[in-house]
Amino acid sequence: MSEEEIAELRSRILSMARKAETGKDPLGWFEDLYESSNGNESMIPWSNGEAHQFLIEWMRSVSPGGKALVVGSGLGEDAAHLAKIGWDVTAFDISPTAIEWSSKIYGDLNIHWRVENLLNLPDEWVGHWDLVVEVHILQAIPEGIRNSASKKLAPLLAPGGKLICIGRYESSNEYSEGPPWPLAESFIHSIGEGLNQTHFEVKSRDHDEAGLLRYISVWDRQV
Ligand SMILES: C[S@@+](CC[C@H](N)C(=O)[O-])C[C@H]1O[C@@H](n2cnc3c(N)ncnc32)[C@H](O)[C@@H]1O
Repeated sequence: MSEEEIAELRSRILSMARKAETGKDPLGWFEDLYESSNGNESMIPWSNGEAHQFLIEWMRSVSPGGKALVVGSGLGEDAAHLAKIGWDVTAFDISPTAIEWSSKIYGDLNIHWRVENLLNLPDEWVGHWDLVVEVHILQAIPEGIRNSASKKLAPLLAPGGKLICIGRYESSNEYSEGPPWPLAESFIHSIGEGLNQTHFEVKSRDHDEAGLLRYISVWDRQV
């Protein structure tokens, strides 16, 4: 994609998100974007065909096995990585098109794909998961509902389970025209309320533009 095309896509996404924010369905633009992309992955700006670098690196220190839940799985790269290293993976997204699309890309992997909304998950998922992974979801949800969404994550863990969150880190108090909206450190720490935070790190990905900071935060639920 040329720089001009990237700028055009960004402006289209901002306008879709703005319109949705003021309407009845602030998250509806995700499905609109996936659907209107007609199977062209280059139209999904957060997808590059690979799992997030921080997730790949962090998972090297965790023994695989157990039930993993991938929140807002997009085109499924993180879910596929976890399945390949030995986790029993369920991945969900609010967008039916994203879920259908991922299930085709990774049809050879035994992943349970589900259309679900983080704000209203099945009751039986509470306390069920050995690993919950959230990459770039909370930063894509408007502030008005972000807090309610973040509170849904910690209760999903089974005793001994781990929560991993990865996203953009707010490094200044300047207003950022999102999505994405970089997250303040105090908000990030609040995601794991009631859990034991075992790791928190702010850094950049290998090919990030200068000054772009991201975080990875990991929590355990006590056995
Ligand atoms: C910025 S994308 C990130 C996708 C993927 N995690 C990645 O890193 O490539 C945000 C994703 O979250 C999904 N999403 C947004 N709000 C959601 C919600 N309330 N419940 C489930 N999925 C949601 C969107 O459809 C979209 O696929």
